[in-house]
Amino acid sequence: MTVATSTGVEQRSTLHNDLRIALPPADLLLTQDDEWCVVRLNGDWREIRLHDYDELFSVPGLYERLIYDILKCDSPARIRKLFEAELTAGGTQAAALRALDLGAGNGMVGEELVDMGVKFIVGADIIEAAAEATQRDRPGIYANYRVVDMTRLNQNDRRELEGYGFNCLTCVAALGFGDIPTEAFANAYNLIEPDGWIAFNIKSSFLDQDDTSGFARLIQSIMADKTLEVRKTQRYQHRVGTSRQPIQYTAIVGNKRRDIGDGMLP
Ligand SMILES: C[S@@+](CC[C@H](N)C(=O)[O-])C[C@H]1O[C@@H](n2cnc3c(N)ncnc32)[C@H](O)[C@@H]1O
Repeated sequence: MTVATSTGVEQRSTLHNDLRIALPPADLLLTQDDEWCVVRLNGDWREIRLHDYDELFSVPGLYERLIYDILKCDSPARIRKLFEAELTAGGTQAAALRALDLGAGNGMVGEELVDMGVKFIVGADIIEAAAEATQRDRPGIYANYRVVDMTRLNQNDRRELEGYGFNCLTCVAALGFGDIPTEAFANAYNLIEPDGWIAFNIKSSFLDQDDTSGFARLIQSIMADKTLEVRKTQRYQHRVGTSRQPIQYTAIVGNKRRDIGDGMLP
């Protein structure tokens, strides 16, 4: 099947338009971490929580159909557009990037990076199901795909990741909730060379004063002391929720100037 993407027309055989998916009633007003849908699989309806990535990724095309087509997620394309503009303004060629894509899922962000002209990308995710789905859905996007817990890198993993000489970190739709915690973000950030490029997004409320995820404190402090020199921030609609209400995220693109020290973590 051929589908139009933001960047042209490409072959994507995993898009299954015949999947039967039903959303909960909008007036249930589920929080983002409680959202679910039901999917018809082999004649039975199965309830799947949207944050149960093991289950989501195990059904070919479900993630794309649900999150991108139905709930109108815009984040990989949005971050790519902002990132591309800042790279151009900064005089950096995409081909010169050596990128670590943290929380890579089944490769949607990797695909955008390849389309931008990035030649070397390593994906990292905490679940095996994401690596398997990437191999199934987008083989060849990543030079390597590591299933690791970034909060607890063993010596071999650390040595290997340091050896790649990353000068770019991307992390899209993966921070906070039960997903990537502040320590994992900081560890990945510290794998990037000084002056490297950082492009990520985060739910806007995680940057508010009353945030309890720890990200507000971390991101505000690395921006304030120029550990991260921000070039662009943009608040935008990440997707709609199962309540059909908009979910706002903030995209941030900048350059790393130095490592995140332990003292900066909440
Ligand atoms: C919403 S998906 C986003 C996938 C992809 N970046 C995208 O935009 O389509 C979040 C991903 O973060 C991964 N994740 C959650 N916690 C993680 C952790 N501690 N370390 C690495 N990846 C993690 C999940 O397994 C999942 O694949």
